[in-house]
Amino acid sequence: MDVFLELKTALETFPFQLPLTLLLIITGTVLLGLVLRIGRKTAPYPPGPKGLPIIGNMNMMEQLTHRGLAKLAKQYGGVLHLRMGFLHMVAISNAEAARQVLQVQDNIFSNRPATIAISYLTYDRADMAFAHYGPFWRQMRKICVIKLFSRKRAESWNSVRDEVDTIVRSVEASLGNPVNVGEFVFNLTKNIIYRAAFGSTSQEGQDEFISILQEFSKLFGAFNIADFVPFLGWLDPQGLHKTLVKARAALDSFIDKIIHEHIEKKRNFNCDQETDMVDELLNFYGHHTKLNNDSDDLHNSVRLTKDNIKAIIMDVMFGGTETVASGIEWAMAELMRSPDDLRRVQQELADVVGLERRVEEADLEKLTFLKCVVKETLRMHPPIPLLLHETAEDASVCGYFVPKGSRVMINAWAIGRDKDAWEDPEAFKPSRFLNPHVPDFKGNNFEFIPFGSGRRSCPGMQLGLYTLELAVAHLLHCFTWGLPDGMKPSELDTSDVFGLTAPRASRLVAVPSKRLLCPL
Ligand code: HEM
Repeated sequence: MDVFLELKTALETFPFQLPLTLLLIITGTVLLGLVLRIGRKTAPYPPGPKGLPIIGNMNMMEQLTHRGLAKLAKQYGGVLHLRMGFLHMVAISNAEAARQVLQVQDNIFSNRPATIAISYLTYDRADMAFAHYGPFWRQMRKICVIKLFSRKRAESWNSVRDEVDTIVRSVEASLGNPVNVGEFVFNLTKNIIYRAAFGSTSQEGQDEFISILQEFSKLFGAFNIADFVPFLGWLDPQGLHKTLVKARAALDSFIDKIIHEHIEKKRNFNCDQETDMVDELLNFYGHHTKLNNDSDDLHNSVRLTKDNIKAIIMDVMFGGTETVASGIEWAMAELMRSPDDLRRVQQELADVVGLERRVEEADLEKLTFLKCVVKETLRMHPPIPLLLHETAEDASVCGYFVPKGSRVMINAWAIGRDKDAWEDPEAFKPSRFLNPHVPDFKGNNFEFIPFGSGRRSCPGMQLGLYTLELAVAHLLHCFTWGLPDGMKPSELDTSDVFGLTAPRASRLVAVPSKRLLCPL
């Protein structure tokens, strides 16, 4: 009886006036759900806040951030259950549960959840990042790892070096004046990825592309009732469908033109130019996506359509831009708040490189403390704070039932700050990584997973780390940095904002002065 009372109250407060037939369908579905639930003889759902009938915990939507979920985990534990409409959600906030999901049962937990908007904007998951785990994803991943992100593809790494040079020159032009470090580094990573993807160093078209990306980013996070209560899809109160069609059409016309130019370039045998990611992907071009898992030769085993190529390029743009920019900005901000660590890392640069020349790639391996700074930054501020996975089958985690199709959020941010795994977790202490027994981020220590772990872990890790280390090394070696307007280090804001990534809420502004004795 209680159920009917709760149901009645929930419907009265529900913002939409539903027609009677719809009410009957909903009631029937809820009753069917209850019957099935009673009949299910498995472990209980993980603990979590009690939800309302039908809408479940949808009234807690704004708490689904890394910080909100970490707070809930303190109350309910490292495996937490929420229900958003018809969708089960499980948040994982400790290392052991993360190991269960990312290693022990990764064959079940390696699918990716996608909203209706994401499915549409990725051409029905024609990319790698949102493709479900399976033969198609495996081939896409092989292409990306071998052909796009590998150390052998010198062009991607060259664009990092060239664009880091450009940012050093831009900072030099502003010596003695406040510099918006956040904006500078976002431009840096955007230029690196744009150039690695399309080969063009010119600004032409970049602004248009960035506004398409921003629109996509907004739509990726847009609330859509149909994601949680599928049969309400027809409501579309925000007119989302029209906006999605417009956004994808904008991307189509932008990248179709670029693909066409690349095909023409190839046809004219103009092959002596540097190749970019579009060129690499066009080597697999065909009119239909095709997989042939019997062949070991990548070129014989997969054909990509234009939609696949467009969707992969978007993965690279999303995966490689804000993540790296957020890492560089947080590293600089934490060092500005911690003058002793800043002095120590700059002293290391002076000792290893010397003040008569700029940092070179070969120096990076010897910059032990700089690497500790990067690790400590990624522990406290993992650029992707929540790893989003989905279950392919019913599963059990730490004795709790996780049904098929659940959205699983692994809270890398909370795990990196877990006081059971880290001493003084809220303090920025790069020197903790000098201890050889401290967890590392290569994927085997589940206390520290800024790049994820297992099958869906980040394929761009090497390129991302290289950019992060090189940019921070150059900014700290070439310049001395001060805070503007007599601001004290302790006054620096450390709040973040939640989206696909978790960048600083306010951009870091600092004043550079020249440090090196040689011309920059
Ligand atoms: C500091 C830099 C970076 C960090 C911290 C980072 C972190 C991550 C994380 C946490 C994931 C999800 C792992 C999971 O779901 O378990 C991921 C996936 C991914 N990353 Fe990165 N990333 C970085 C740089 C890059 C770069 C530079 C690229 C490309 C140029 C890239 C491309 C991707 C792609 C395509 C995926 C999806 C992989 C899949 O679903 O199979 N990332 N990254």
